[in-house]
Amino acid sequence: MKTGKYLFFLSCLNIPLAREEALAIIESETGEYPAFESMERILIVENLLEKTAREVVERSALTKWAGRLILSIDYEHRDEICKAVKAIDETLLAQDPGKTFCVRVKGIGVKDAHIEGDIGYIIKSKTGQRVNLENPDIVYAGVLMPSRFFLTLQVKPYTKPDIGARALKYRVFPHPSSLDPRLARAMVNLSRARKGCKFLDCFCGAGGVLLEAYLIGCIAYGIDIKLKMLIGCAMNLFQYSSYAFTILGDARNLMIREKSIDAIATDPPYGRSTFLPSDLKNLLSETISQSYDVLKDKRFICFGAPIDAKAEDLVSKREFEILTRIPFRVHKSLTRVFYVLRKR
Ligand SMILES: C[S@@+](CC[C@H](N)C(=O)[O-])C[C@H]1O[C@@H](n2cnc3c(N)ncnc32)[C@H](O)[C@@H]1O
Repeated sequence: MKTGKYLFFLSCLNIPLAREEALAIIESETGEYPAFESMERILIVENLLEKTAREVVERSALTKWAGRLILSIDYEHRDEICKAVKAIDETLLAQDPGKTFCVRVKGIGVKDAHIEGDIGYIIKSKTGQRVNLENPDIVYAGVLMPSRFFLTLQVKPYTKPDIGARALKYRVFPHPSSLDPRLARAMVNLSRARKGCKFLDCFCGAGGVLLEAYLIGCIAYGIDIKLKMLIGCAMNLFQYSSYAFTILGDARNLMIREKSIDAIATDPPYGRSTFLPSDLKNLLSETISQSYDVLKDKRFICFGAPIDAKAEDLVSKREFEILTRIPFRVHKSLTRVFYVLRKR
């Protein structure tokens, strides 16, 4: 099957997190962490199948769109962009003259109100396709930076998760400890979970992470020490026609068969708005070592922890490799760090 070079346009919520989420989805689909190029909100990966790029757009919380790269140039004067678009090999453009198209260009640090129209005019004369700004068959999506320009043929997702519909304010059981659904989805993706895999959240609380895991097709298992939270979790899952196996239990003593879980993503209590039964460091280190037992070999765990807990010091380097450590500022007094570990 034909592969190509794809550009992913990332959310500005947290660029390193968005980049790692997209790369983790690619790894979960292809079995390999890809080589990549990145600058600001742009991630470029070569030798990808369109199906994989589409999977990233459909599954991720933090990738806005993706497109097959058809032009990437450094420029000094705007005319060079139009010249380069004119010179694009016609086989790289969408072929069918009966189709409609539009051009959408996102400026980063630069504005140009006429660039979309100018590029549209050139593409129309090269392909014979008609412009349709409302509902085009094909979108040429570009990114304009002060001295760099990219043009892509945008990948059309079959579905895109409507994560906003699961915002905490809409939940039947809202709880202050729940993660923003975009972060919950990103954590599930960072754990390399995929359709059909056995997924575990050992501090499932109100079920935000379980919900995202279920929605990407995982068989979701959740554990919480508080019955009230498990009841709320069931209510939230039911609201979104989702399901998870939940167990009243303790993350420090997981009653789960050894090496039976494919992916873990979890956000332990930080002792602010949630029930914290022991010192956070002990809780974290006991949970990480329990996770080692239940995870299959070479599989991944993603967890969050406050920056001052220095969770990296609690990880046994013999058991896990620390792959990713991404700080995320929640508010003035809390920076959460997202960790991704791979079992050795
Ligand atoms: C931060 S909340 C989880 C939020 C959840 N990920 C969400 O997005 O809705 C942490 C949860 O861990 C639970 N908890 C605390 N100590 C626990 C333990 N030792 N084992 C299992 N659950 C525990 C608390 O009851 C709380 O519901």
